[in-house]
Amino acid sequence: MKKVSVLFVCLGNICRSPTAEAVMRKKVADAGLTHLVTIDSAGTAAYHVGKAPDPRSIEAAATYGYDLRDLTARQAVVEDFDQFDYVLALDGNNLEDLKHLAGKRVSGHLGLLLQFAGHNNKSVPDPYYGGDQGFVNVIELCEAGCDGLIEHIQQDLNS
Ligand code: 4NP
Repeated sequence: MKKVSVLFVCLGNICRSPTAEAVMRKKVADAGLTHLVTIDSAGTAAYHVGKAPDPRSIEAAATYGYDLRDLTARQAVVEDFDQFDYVLALDGNNLEDLKHLAGKRVSGHLGLLLQFAGHNNKSVPDPYYGGDQGFVNVIELCEAGCDGLIEHIQQDLNS
């Protein structure tokens, strides 16, 4: 049976991409697709490797029913482009960094998460140096992106 793997990538892997990972896990489970979709997240930078997500992300996500507590930050590596069918950046800078890391190694889909959302936002803004609203914004943008991504993956799995 066909399977699909998805890696979400931001800068630190403690705010945006762990949120995307948790949102995607829940939506994939709700769609009954857990056994067919592998999900992970990583950062382009190594600052927070081995750390749990930012407490502000954990708290905001919990109010929306998403659990980030078991996640641990890691840095994206070139082998990720062999391992994952979809490598999805949270913002345009992350995408540029991933293109440099990949070189000629890209075989699957490398792009922005929000290309799957039905609106004009292209990047999920970095909430790290801002207030609480930024963390809520991250969740809502990740939800929009993951809804569209799951629709796309369902078509992929059925093709
Ligand atoms: P993230 O947020 O990329 O969404 O995980 C950030 C986390 C840490 C830093 C910047 C952004 N930092 O500069 O340490």
